[in-house]
Amino acid sequence: MKKEPSKLARMIEGWFAANMRPMPWRSERTPWRSFVSEFMLQQTQVSRVIERFEPFMDRFGTPLLLAQADEEAVLAMWQGLGYYRRARNLQRAAADIVDRFGGEVPLEVEGLMSLPGVGRYTAGSIASIVGGRRVPIVDGNITRLLARMYEDDAAQDDRAFIARTWERSEQLVQACCKPGVLNEGMMELGATVCTPASPSCNACPVRTCCGACDSNRTGEIPPPKRRAVKEVLHHHAVVVERRGRMLMQRRPGGGLWGGLWQATAVESPSRLTQQEVAKSCSLPLESLTLVESVQRQLTHRTVHLHVHIGVLKRGARLPEGDHRRWMLADELIKAPLSNAARHVLEVGKVALALS
Ligand code: ADE
Repeated sequence: MKKEPSKLARMIEGWFAANMRPMPWRSERTPWRSFVSEFMLQQTQVSRVIERFEPFMDRFGTPLLLAQADEEAVLAMWQGLGYYRRARNLQRAAADIVDRFGGEVPLEVEGLMSLPGVGRYTAGSIASIVGGRRVPIVDGNITRLLARMYEDDAAQDDRAFIARTWERSEQLVQACCKPGVLNEGMMELGATVCTPASPSCNACPVRTCCGACDSNRTGEIPPPKRRAVKEVLHHHAVVVERRGRMLMQRRPGGGLWGGLWQATAVESPSRLTQQEVAKSCSLPLESLTLVESVQRQLTHRTVHLHVHIGVLKRGARLPEGDHRRWMLADELIKAPLSNAARHVLEVGKVALALS
């Protein structure tokens, strides 16, 4: 099936102008709003980002405000978005924007890619959407859309296939009228019409030029990804309460839930017995009771959460520090916590109320 890039690009641009879903960063477009939204949208669903975007912008409305903020305040405003490394990269990028770019988000791909946490895709999105630069982008939605349009049934992680996808995106952006409209239109088409399962080909603006639709192969293209085996982690949490305060521990900076607060916990690749948890948690415990075990699927890990209630020995003293704090309910609301840590505290509080 012959593909005329300018015709395809026009069809997608026209469709997007008429079918764009309202999103806060679309109604008021500035380089900083685009920058923040693209960071949030890396690996997080649009619906979740929509909830968190304006509160974050109200607080950190310029790169300078974000660069000068406390890391903990930034992590707290990032709650619910997951992948907290992005929040740290965003803050470091804001500092770079202030130091190296006079406080203005750069709009060339090269400048953007020199910032922490900005890859070719994020740079291309910002440069094209708010900078109007004629540069391509490829994300998961666009990969699927172009694989089907070009009836390319290669494995999605195949290097040659990835290179072909970037070339196709480049051809389209060279032929289009408005690069930002084309690029965001391709993402939107992939997200809402050319969906992974049961795409709505009847509603698709490029159905007459789509190889997979023509040959009835949308179910086979792209082929399913080989699933990586997920790491298994057992997180044994010990909820300790004293006079209305919860004993909290700060995780180390890198890795899973880096820098976030949680109830004291012991982690291991396999399940520990209660005796082992009591021994390894470094708390002077009088008793330890298991109240719940649940399983959570994160993107790269299966986490088993085991929630315990711990009672400290009488008169035990636990000095506070950078990594340990007794927190009241109103501090807990503001502290940066993962969803799992919040769940642990909720379960612990219910169990404590019943005990
Ligand atoms: N995902 C990444 N960037 C996006 C954008 N600008 N609009 C919608 N979804 C996106």
